[in-house]
Amino acid sequence: SKGAALVTAVAQRLASRRHQVDETLSSFRLSQEQLKLVKARMRAGLEAGLKTKGHSAIKMLPSFVYHTPDGTEHGKYLALDLGGTNFRAMLVNFRKGLQQNTRLYHKIYTIPLEIMQGTGEELFDHLAQCVSDFLDYMGMKNARLPAGFTFSFPCEQTAIDTGTLVSWTKGFKATDCEGHDVVNMLREAIKRRNDFELDIAAVVNDTVGTMMSCAYEDPQCEIGMIAGTGTNVCYMEEVKNIEKTEQKKEKTDEDKGTPDEEQDKADAEMLKMCINTEWGGLGDDGSLDDIITPYDTEVDQNSVNPGKQRFEKLTSGMYLGEVVRHVLLDLTRGSLLFRGHVTEALKTRDIFQTKYLSQIESDRLALLQIRSILQQLGLEGNCDDSIIVKEVCGAVSRRAAQLCGAGMAAVVDKIRENRGLDHLDITVGVDGALYKLHPHFSGILKETAKVMAPQCNVTFLPSEEGSGKGAALITAVVRKMQEM
Ligand code: GLC
Repeated sequence: SKGAALVTAVAQRLASRRHQVDETLSSFRLSQEQLKLVKARMRAGLEAGLKTKGHSAIKMLPSFVYHTPDGTEHGKYLALDLGGTNFRAMLVNFRKGLQQNTRLYHKIYTIPLEIMQGTGEELFDHLAQCVSDFLDYMGMKNARLPAGFTFSFPCEQTAIDTGTLVSWTKGFKATDCEGHDVVNMLREAIKRRNDFELDIAAVVNDTVGTMMSCAYEDPQCEIGMIAGTGTNVCYMEEVKNIEKTEQKKEKTDEDKGTPDEEQDKADAEMLKMCINTEWGGLGDDGSLDDIITPYDTEVDQNSVNPGKQRFEKLTSGMYLGEVVRHVLLDLTRGSLLFRGHVTEALKTRDIFQTKYLSQIESDRLALLQIRSILQQLGLEGNCDDSIIVKEVCGAVSRRAAQLCGAGMAAVVDKIRENRGLDHLDITVGVDGALYKLHPHFSGILKETAKVMAPQCNVTFLPSEEGSGKGAALITAVVRKMQEM
C-alpha cells in the first residue's frame, strides 16, 4: 500500500541520515592503538622538552618550586591570579597546624576583552587597579603584604620570582608582553599608581598552584592538572633529568666554599623540581596530524594563535564548543540537521561555551530541555536534531577526555620509571570547569588513565581555590627559606 511505502521511505531516510552522522562522528573516535600512540608521543615530547633549551613542542618549564608544602606554613599572604577571563585577588591566612582552618577572602574581577587584547601596559595597569580595589576592600592598603602571582601562561623562569612570558595562549593577545618579565610588569604598574606597595615573592603557573594546594592535604600529590579554559599539567621531576638547566653543576661551582655537609643537605633538598609541562603544545610539530580532523583545523585556523597549542585545542573548554559548532555547521550544510538551514547563530563564533556542553550532555536532561537550550542559543530544531547535537557534543568531549587520559598515562609512567618502581601510587591535584562541571569528562579521563597506565594507581583530587591558595603557599615557603 501507499502508506507502507511512505513509512519505508521515511525509515530509509532516517537510516541514511543516521549513517551519515555516524560517519562524521567516527573521525572523533580513537582506538586503543591510537591512544597508545598519543601516550608515546606525549612521553617523547616530555623527554625532548627536558633536554632542549629553546624550541620544543612541549616546553617543560622549570618552576623553581623544589618541594610540596610540609604543613608548617603560616602567615598572611596575598594571592593574585590571572588565568582565563577573570582576575582574582585573595587574602590567605595559613594558621600553623590548622590545615582545615585556612582563612580566605577573595574578589573576582572580569577582564574586558579590549584589555585582554590591548597593550601590555593597559593590562597590567588594570590588574594593579584591581589589587588596589581589593586592598581598599580589605582595609589593608598600608600592609605591604608578601604576594604570590599565579600567571597561567607559559613563562621561562630563572628564579621563583621572575618569569618571562614565552607566548600568550587561550585568547589573550595583549601587546608588548611576550619576551618580558611579567613580575616586573606588575611591579612597574604598581609603581605607576603609587598608592600601595606589594612584595611579589613568587610567580606560579596555575597547575603548580593547584598541585601545591592539594599537596597541603595529601603528600602523595606530585602532579597538578588543569582541565578548563586551557589544559596543562605539572609534576615533580628529578633535578638530574632536567638537562637543560644544568642546575646542579652551576650550584657546585658557585658554592665551592661551603662545607660538604651543608652542601649535601642543600643538594638533598633540591633533588626534585616541579616542571610546568605546557603539554597543550603537543602536536605543534605535526605529531598529532593523523588524529586531527578538518573541524579541528578550522578551529585552529580561526584562533588567535594558529598552529599553536594543538593538543589544547582538542581538549580544552575554550575550543571544544567551537569544534562542536563546526561539526554542526557541516551536518547542517549536508541537510542532516536543522532542516538544512544555516542560521546566523550557527555561524557565530563561541556560542557554545563549555557550560552549554556540560548541560546538553547531562543525562538528567530530557530532550525537550536540550531543545530549549538550543533555542536560547538561537538554534531552532526538533527532537531528532537535539539527539544529534547531543551526540556531537559527546563525541568531541569524549575524545578530549581520552586524550588527556593518555597524556596523563605518559606522565605517571615517567614518574614511576624515574623511581624504578613496578607500581606507583600517586595523586593528581586537579581544577578547571571541564573537570569539575562536565558530566562525563572526569570519568572518561580516569578510566583512560587507568587502562593506559596499568602499573599506576592514580587518584584525582579536586582542588578548592587551588591555584591562588597554592601561590600563597609557595610564597610562604619562599619566605620561610629566606628567614632561615
Ligand atoms: C594554557 C596555558 C598554561 C595553563 C593552562 C591552564 O595551556 O598555556 O600555562 O596552565 O592554559 O590554565
